[in-house]
Amino acid sequence: MVRQHVNPLSRFFQVERPLPPPAELFADPEQPLHLDIGCARGRFLLALAQQHPERNHLGVEIRLPLVDAAEAERQRLGLTNLHYLFCNANISLETWLAALPAGLLERATIQFPDPWFKLKHHKRRVLQPALLCSLAAALAPGRQLFLQSDVLAVIEPMVALVEASGCFARPEADARPWRLDSPLPVATERESLVMRQGLPVYRVLYGRNEAPVPDPKALEAGAGCTDNPATPPAPKPAATPGSP
Ligand SMILES: C[S@@+](CC[C@H](N)C(=O)[O-])C[C@H]1O[C@@H](n2cnc3c(N)ncnc32)[C@H](O)[C@@H]1O
Repeated sequence: MVRQHVNPLSRFFQVERPLPPPAELFADPEQPLHLDIGCARGRFLLALAQQHPERNHLGVEIRLPLVDAAEAERQRLGLTNLHYLFCNANISLETWLAALPAGLLERATIQFPDPWFKLKHHKRRVLQPALLCSLAAALAPGRQLFLQSDVLAVIEPMVALVEASGCFARPEADARPWRLDSPLPVATERESLVMRQGLPVYRVLYGRNEAPVPDPKALEAGAGCTDNPATPPAPKPAATPGSP
């Protein structure tokens, strides 16, 4: 039985996992790369990788049993332009992205991230200023960041954060505030479910512009729009006896 959610802030998930470089993941590591963050069981990337052998596809996921199942299926099918890795994206992607050969990352997607509705849990949400800055640093001008969710309260802060970074712009022709359709030829599992139910999906496609990457701490402080800070607030000092 796979747990529905894990707490990415728990101690177990704070350990950085050194992720293998593209040369160890793909038969042709120089192909453009699509990174899907929070890929779950990975069926979206599996279909995409089969349709696009000219690209590499990497899915990262925090629930290990899903990664194991996805990797087993990939190996059974002999796909060498696809890989799944277990990690906490907020802990392990920064180093990995920084080490990528320049220009390799063609697209990053964050699709239907866990909502963590309660205010006190918002800091568990995946798109934090530090991760956004790492993505912005790894994406060359013109390369894409695609976000989608069925929960307005989740996607709105993501959009506010991306826009506060100044590093991304939407295609002129795209409808506002939400794109009318997905730019991708395959739906994710969550996307298919939501669409079968006839519920709305909120989508935004961004292209990386030429702006420099801000300091994540400055973005966090300046955006004022994010409730998922990169660094948790310092613990309150213990009350001393007799204090009010
Ligand atoms: C609601 S599911 C959506 C899965 C898939 N993207 C889809 O659209 O069907 C969100 C996924 O993100 C994963 N996830 C959440 N936080 C994560 C983190 N910090 N690092 C990696 N994966 C994470 C969850 O385990 C879950 O599988």
